Amino acid sequence: MMLHEPVMVEEVAQFVKGDGVLVDATAGTGGHTLFLLSRYPDLRAVCVDRDPESLEVARSRLAEFGERVKFIVGDYRYLPEMEIPWENVTSLLFDLGMSSFQLSSPRGFSYQREEELDMRFNREEGRAAWEFLRTAPFSQLVLMFRDYGDLRRGEALAREVLRTRPRTTSQMVEVVRRVYGKAGPELLSRVFQAIRIGVNRELEGLEDFVYGLARKIPRGSRMIFLTYHSGEDRLVKNALKRAFKDGILKNLTPRVLKPTPEEIKKNPRARSAKMRVAERC
Ligand SMILES: C[S@@+](CC[C@H](N)C(=O)[O-])C[C@H]1O[C@@H](n2cnc3c(N)ncnc32)[C@H](O)[C@@H]1O
Repeated sequence: MMLHEPVMVEEVAQFVKGDGVLVDATAGTGGHTLFLLSRYPDLRAVCVDRDPESLEVARSRLAEFGERVKFIVGDYRYLPEMEIPWENVTSLLFDLGMSSFQLSSPRGFSYQREEELDMRFNREEGRAAWEFLRTAPFSQLVLMFRDYGDLRRGEALAREVLRTRPRTTSQMVEVVRRVYGKAGPELLSRVFQAIRIGVNRELEGLEDFVYGLARKIPRGSRMIFLTYHSGEDRLVKNALKRAFKDGILKNLTPRVLKPTPEEIKKNPRARSAKMRVAERC
């Protein structure tokens, strides 16, 4: 099992308030929460994640904090309906995307191992990627490859997927090789990323969700976003812009924050991170 190295922890800690309740909306294996609860003795946390397997790891890693931390398996888009002591919430953290733990778990997220293409964050929800790829309409696959992978030749790729119906990671790699005449790491990462985002519907409703949630959180509380993909970042940025304009949120990062070169050297997976922070007016 590979634990996820949390990104920009020092920067996150500077913006998280040191008391009240932190909602770690994408807690994963609990790296950020572990750091924050250790640093701030008066802070409590609610850890949410769609992936029950990740949250199980977080639960054992955070056991030392006892009653200071609670766990909820669920999609953050349903946060307002979750049992969270909202009046005490002081910070909300959204560290979007996928973790190293998930990449290393046998669900077909990585093109480097031969596995069935599942790619679901929660294996009890929705359809596995291999099923999704053979039942989704052609036009949906084309948009998925274009918007979530920034890929050219999305039509040819979608056509080949529907024709050959890949079931495993190596079969998907073969599809890419046939369409592009090559299958290097950069290209494969983008194809696999697009499928993952599509299967988990990661970006659906994200902009409206962020805007809507901003109106509901307590005054003075902060929303912290870490994004890793241009489409994801655009949706967060648009939602925040609307909320700034409507006087709902105040911008605490007029210039988007990025990891230091030292962090990127230590943890290359941090390289595409962008951090945005806003406070409820
Ligand atoms: C980059 S990882 C977070 C890592 C975490 N901050 C840590 O330090 O271990 C992103 C996490 O978000 C979760 N996730 C993605 N979409 C989600 C959603 N809609 N609702 C809840 N969790 C989600 C994934 O399952 C994954 O565990």
